[in-house]
Amino acid sequence: MTVLNKIGREITDRPVVIGIEPYVSQAYARAEDEKLWAKVWQVACRAEEIPKVGDYVTYEILDESIIVVRVSADRIAAYYNVCLHRGRRLAQGCGHTKRFVCRFHGWKWSLEGENVEALAREEWEGALTDDNLRMKQVKVDSWGGWVFINMDPEAEPLRTYLGVAADMLDPFELDKMRYRWRQWLNFPCNWKIAIEAFVEGYHVPGTHPQLTKYGVKSTWSQAHGKHTVFGPGAQKGFGGASGGTGDAPDMRVALADVLGQLWEEVNATTTQTIVDAAARLVDELPADTPPMQVQAHLMMQAAKADAARGVMWPKIDPAHFSKAGTVWHIFPNTVVIQGPTFALCYRARPDGFNPDSCIFEVYVIERFPEGQEPKPENRYTPIEDEAAWRKVLGQDFANMGAVQQGVKSRGFPGPRPNPVQERGVTNFHRVLAEYMETGAPRPLD
Ligand code: FES
Ligand SMILES: [Fe+2]
Repeated sequence: MTVLNKIGREITDRPVVIGIEPYVSQAYARAEDEKLWAKVWQVACRAEEIPKVGDYVTYEILDESIIVVRVSADRIAAYYNVCLHRGRRLAQGCGHTKRFVCRFHGWKWSLEGENVEALAREEWEGALTDDNLRMKQVKVDSWGGWVFINMDPEAEPLRTYLGVAADMLDPFELDKMRYRWRQWLNFPCNWKIAIEAFVEGYHVPGTHPQLTKYGVKSTWSQAHGKHTVFGPGAQKGFGGASGGTGDAPDMRVALADVLGQLWEEVNATTTQTIVDAAARLVDELPADTPPMQVQAHLMMQAAKADAARGVMWPKIDPAHFSKAGTVWHIFPNTVVIQGPTFALCYRARPDGFNPDSCIFEVYVIERFPEGQEPKPENRYTPIEDEAAWRKVLGQDFANMGAVQQGVKSRGFPGPRPNPVQERGVTNFHRVLAEYMETGAPRPLD
């Protein structure tokens, strides 16, 4: 069966096999620098990290570093993080400044990127101009509360790049959410193996068997241009990414159980408000309430409880809820698992040019009453810290290094993603192959 998506890309359900080069080749990892990272829109930070004029963060991707700075209340700029004298890095980490000052010979730039001081500039006899002293800009745009950068001056607008993904996610008002927690670590695997572990739900019965006790064992997946989405098969749209209540005999009990479990074992994909409202279901509804009604009641009660503490829920059409799925892969390296007042997000990046190592960040954003946003640090949290990562992510993480080792085996023919449930993996490699100008996944025969 062949279907076309909105932008006319052919999505075939034919089984494919993916080459292993993208995971293990050093030459490929090098080539990604120019062909992929220099061309794509990528998440640099959340806008909340730079709320005041003069706040900046530096975003690192391979050898490149980019300064993302708030220039005015409604404008963010991005520059290559390099001094135009002899090339020293200008800024490190994040902070607040009125000027970017190079620590080598003291040249200075305004937030707008204009050079405001170059010691003894007259000694260049006019060869240094305002124009060639201006910091080199990188394309920057915001969506959903994220600040994206793109190093390609010819890049299509961010909104066009995001396409259907942005249309589907807009009603969730992700821009109104703020960090609840942030943690990062390194994995002994390629960045693609790390992100691919979160773009499909097919692994849930195998990796997280405790999340399928009510029988939801299947997912649907769909490609939208460069990006993909998946959601729980039996019950699209509520309860979080990996949980499900399926054909539970008593939906009141099942919802309380599943949501409580997610809260405990993921510390994400739901909220305290929803968990509390779910725990009240048995007192508020008779045992024979139809499942759909139990869910509707839960949503209503949770929204009411949130409104009472100053957290307004977005108005999302229930039909849209189902269509929007629960887990979005935003090409190339971001995953967003969204709900009405929360999202669990991942970003994977290469760790230098070593194909066997990556940097992986996990964070939860949530809607908070104004002024009560917690502003957590991005905490380095090694895999051994099981208490911090909780059970579910720990289960996912245990696959990372083992997959990287396995794909190198002489006995491995290459990944063969599930044509129905793992379109997130297949489409990722189709799009990647276009950027990298390599062969697309081959038909599996
Ligand atoms: S390298 Fe920056 S002022 Fe000399
Ligand atoms: Fe998982």
